[in-house]
Amino acid sequence: MYLHPNLICKNLLGVINLEKLVIQGGTPLRGEVNISGAKNAAVAILPATLLINGTCRIENLPNISDVKLYCDILEQLGAKIKWHSSNEITIDTTNINCKEDIVEITRKFRASYYLIGSLLGRCGEVQVGLPGGCNLGARPIDLHIKGFEALGATTNITQGNIRATADHLVGTSIYLDIASVGATINIMLASVLAEGTTIIDNAAKEPHIVDVANFLNTMGANIRGAGTDIIKIHGVKELKGNTSYSIVPDQIEAGTFMLAAISSRGDIIVKNCITKHLESIIAKIIEIGGHVDANGDKLRVWCNKRPTKATIKTLPYPGFPTDLQPQMGVVLSTAEGTSIINEGIWESRFQYTAELNKMGAHITAQGKSAFFEGVDKLVGAPVYVTDLRAGAALIIAGISAEGITEVYNLEHIDRGYENIEEKFRKLGAKIERTIE
Ligand code: UD1
Repeated sequence: MYLHPNLICKNLLGVINLEKLVIQGGTPLRGEVNISGAKNAAVAILPATLLINGTCRIENLPNISDVKLYCDILEQLGAKIKWHSSNEITIDTTNINCKEDIVEITRKFRASYYLIGSLLGRCGEVQVGLPGGCNLGARPIDLHIKGFEALGATTNITQGNIRATADHLVGTSIYLDIASVGATINIMLASVLAEGTTIIDNAAKEPHIVDVANFLNTMGANIRGAGTDIIKIHGVKELKGNTSYSIVPDQIEAGTFMLAAISSRGDIIVKNCITKHLESIIAKIIEIGGHVDANGDKLRVWCNKRPTKATIKTLPYPGFPTDLQPQMGVVLSTAEGTSIINEGIWESRFQYTAELNKMGAHITAQGKSAFFEGVDKLVGAPVYVTDLRAGAALIIAGISAEGITEVYNLEHIDRGYENIEEKFRKLGAKIERTIE
C-alpha cells in the first residue's frame, strides 16, 4: 500500500493512524446541530483548576482529545478527576505534587503552555516541554515570558523545555505588543494569586478569555475588564472552588457548521450558540449572499445560490477569526468571481489550499494572501489534513463536492471537534470513518 508522507504520522499514543473519513458529497445540509463547549476555553480552564485549593465541577466540557490529554496531565500532577458524563467532570486539586515531572507529556500539545501560568501561581515553580513551531508557522511565547518576568518570575529555556520559578509574584502593569490570546490568559493565570494588582494592557478580547476570567471569578478570583483591552487582576489569597462552571459554546465550531451550510447550499439550525460571538462571520455570510436568522441561542443559516466573491482579512476578535479562515476558503473556492483572503495572524495557514486545488479549486497562495478564483464545483479526491481547522475545511469541501472525498490525518480534527462526523451525519451528510 502507498502511504502519502503526511499519512506516516503518529497519533498521541504513538500509533500510526490510518483512519480516514469517506465522504460522498453533493447533499445540501439540513436539520439541527448542537454546539459543544469551546475547545480553546476548555484547554485554559483545565489548567486554571490547579489554582484552586479544593474541588470544582466543570460542565459543557467538549469531548475531544485535547481535553483528555489535559485531564491526563492533571491526574499525573495528583488531581483527582471524576467523570459524571462525557461532558462533565469534577476535579479535586487539593493535593498537587509540584515536583512531578511533566516535561514529556506536556510536549505533546501547545496548550500545555497554560501550565506555566497556573503552576507558577500554585507552586512557584514549573517546567514544561515546548512543542516548538507547528503547522501554522512559528509560535513564539516571548510575550508570555515577558509577563511572567514582569510579575517577578525567572525563566529559563533549555533544550526545548521552559522552566519558570518565583519566590513571590507581585502585580504590575504589563503592555502586550501584540494582543495575544495565549499571553493574556497565561498572565491572568499567573497573577490571580499574586500580591497586589496586575494590569494587562492591549489584552486580547476573544470570548474564551472572558470565559476563563468568569471561571476564575466564580472560584473566588477578582478579575475585571476581561473582554476589553485592559484587564485588571486584583490578587487574592486563595481560590476555594466548591462550585460548578459551564463552559461557553464554541464559536469556531458554530462558525464551522454555518459555513458548511453555505458551502453545501443547505439550510440548518445551529443550536446553543452566542450570536454576539459570531457577528463577523454573520456579516460575511450575508455579504456573499447567504442568509442568517438569529433567534435567541439558535441561528438559522441557509444559502440557495452560488455565493459572490469577498475580500477577507483575519484579525483578533472581534475581527474575522483566523480559525475560520480555511472553512471560509472552501466557501469562496466556489463563489462567483475572485476572492482574496489576507491572513493577519499566522504566517503559514494556507496549506489546505493545495488540497482544495486537488479537488478542482483554483487557489493561488502567496505568503499571507490567497486568491480564490471561484469554480462551479469541487470534485472529490483523497486529501490530507495538516492542522485542526484545515481538517474541518476539508470535510466541508468533501460534503460540498461532487463524488467521493477521502480525508486522512484525522488526529488533527479529533483534537478539537466533538463527534464531528456524527454531527454532520445528523445534518444529512454521507460521511463514514473507516480504517484503511
Ligand atoms: C489562540 C488559539 C488559536 C488561534 C489564535 C488566534 C488557543 C488554545 N489557541 O492561539 O486557535 O488561532 O489564538 O486567534 O486558544 N505572538 C507572539 N508572541 C507571543 C504570543 C503570540 O509574537 O508570545 C504572535 C503569534 O505568533 C501570532 C499572534 O501573536 O502571530 C497571535 O497569537 P496568539 O493570540 O497568542 O495565539 P495563541 O494563543 O497561540
